[in-house]
Amino acid sequence: MKGRRPRPLDDGDYWVRVSVKLGRSKLVKWDNLHMEIINNCTQEVIERAAKALKDGHLVAFPTETVYGLGADATNKKSVSKIYSTKGRPIDHPLIVHISSINQLDKWAVNIPEYALKLSTEFWPGPMTLILERSNLAEDFITGSQSNVGLRVPAEPLALALLSEFEKIGGSGIAAPSANRFGAVSPTTANAVKDELENFLNDEDLILDGGPCSIGVESTIIDCTKVLPRVLRSGAITNEMIVTVCSLDQSKNIKGSKIRAPGVLESHYSPKAKVVLDSMAKSGEGFIAMSDIPTPRGAIRLASPTTIQEYARDLYAALRLCDNKNLDKVIILLPQGEGLAVAIRDRVTKAAAGK
Ligand code: TXA
Ligand code: MG
Repeated sequence: MKGRRPRPLDDGDYWVRVSVKLGRSKLVKWDNLHMEIINNCTQEVIERAAKALKDGHLVAFPTETVYGLGADATNKKSVSKIYSTKGRPIDHPLIVHISSINQLDKWAVNIPEYALKLSTEFWPGPMTLILERSNLAEDFITGSQSNVGLRVPAEPLALALLSEFEKIGGSGIAAPSANRFGAVSPTTANAVKDELENFLNDEDLILDGGPCSIGVESTIIDCTKVLPRVLRSGAITNEMIVTVCSLDQSKNIKGSKIRAPGVLESHYSPKAKVVLDSMAKSGEGFIAMSDIPTPRGAIRLASPTTIQEYARDLYAALRLCDNKNLDKVIILLPQGEGLAVAIRDRVTKAAAGK
């Protein structure tokens, strides 16, 4: 719905009259015109959202990592809406979300033994496996590659939506992070709205499941070779993976035909300039572990006490930085292995983007 923002009514909210079916009309809050955020996600809401997906609309939903922008993964027209809504190049493949490991065979073939072990161990969870695609995974999902990315998320609302969607005949939900291309992934429903409200339609929905518990995107593992290889780090860490199977940890990725995710310059970037491991000056944003004091005059955006908290709060802190119209944010990188690897990866890419 486009047009000028109308004048407010007495209550200070902005309302406009929109036509609904059979010549009737109703008053709708201007803020809700482009799409609807639904806070109380009852079974009825989940059924409505699954039907909206089946009818070709987009549904943004929470996962334990970040919010996804979902579409029916077998519907070319719906999937193309994801690309236009995000402003994303068409050759970037999408992750297909499924409700359980039992759906794996629908989308993938020649699944290596180690991939089955990984999925048994870490699904539902923050892990995406890249596998040889079945015929169901068409070029418009895979960016014309011969493999497909699959994930069973752990967030209960996401799982409920996936199960309901499959119950009414759906096969999987394609969902990239629900942000404009190159921007910071959203970890709350309001952040999705801020990112996409001007690009979604009236029939599209945003399901609000509260803040994401992990806060950085899933670990992506290439399972098309003899040994698995991590393409994007996340909460399923190398240390966890090697408890299940051997892992190719060689630095050289030459010869890999797979497009590694998030390699573009401007990934995960706020509008502010991101600078790493430097001294923050007065008026600049500052993100660091809580034991590091805020330099005089700097604006503290996050003070995580653990690595898990750092991951969970990072994207919200970058958004806060933009909401405060700061030009620059200084980020002190967390040390160590585990989830710290994923944080350093995202933040380093955010810094390279400007
Ligand atoms: O945590 C996540 O993975 C979130 C939630 C919503 O599930 N999704 C997400 O999707 O981060 P997206 O599209 O923002 O990032 C996925 C990355 C992209 O860089 C994409 O190019 C890459 O994974 N990717 C997807 N399918 C792939 C494939 N078949 N081969 C190689 N890379 C793939
Ligand atoms: Mg993304």
